[in-house]
Amino acid sequence: MNETTMLVNESHPLPLNWQPDDLVDLWKVQPRHYLLYPRPTRLSECAADAANGLFEQAEREGFDDFMVLSAFRDSDYQAGLFADSPNGYVARPGCSEHQTGLAMDIAQFGRGMALDDAHAAWLTENCWEHGFIVRYPEGREDVTGIPAEPWHLRYVGRDAAMEMRERGWVLEEWHGAHGMV
Ligand code: DAL
Ligand code: ZN
Repeated sequence: MNETTMLVNESHPLPLNWQPDDLVDLWKVQPRHYLLYPRPTRLSECAADAANGLFEQAEREGFDDFMVLSAFRDSDYQAGLFADSPNGYVARPGCSEHQTGLAMDIAQFGRGMALDDAHAAWLTENCWEHGFIVRYPEGREDVTGIPAEPWHLRYVGRDAAMEMRERGWVLEEWHGAHGMV
């Protein structure tokens, strides 16, 4: 079981061989409220359950074309992405939340996800109720170290997500406030 609020960034890396022990394939657990590539796409169980709730609400509210592009990534896979993307969007192997099984990248099917898209606004407004945060918000690059990514959601659990929303904190600040860094 994961600690859902775990902090992973450049200064808090995971061991390269670390892997969550409760990964589930979204293909096996999702009731078709969102789209997936035809390949295994894994999240920790708590994050997968929360994603089902998030996308079920999205579908009810007319956002029925979300697609999960990327979820759990081991450090070898991350190393390949890192080598191909020198622009700061891809974290160094060991420093990516995707290795926790608690993060996923989402797009509107066929369109991607830009900061001013209605889909991005819907996620920002609604994800916290399901325990997710938009992990790399616009304007907080000085703290997160990552350019704004409206597509990257991170599961932290509902209490932590609500506190971060109310205070305007990113995860680094939540950890600081709780004396954890
Ligand atoms: N794009 C995020 C920072 C990652 O690679 O984990
Ligand atoms: Zn991501």
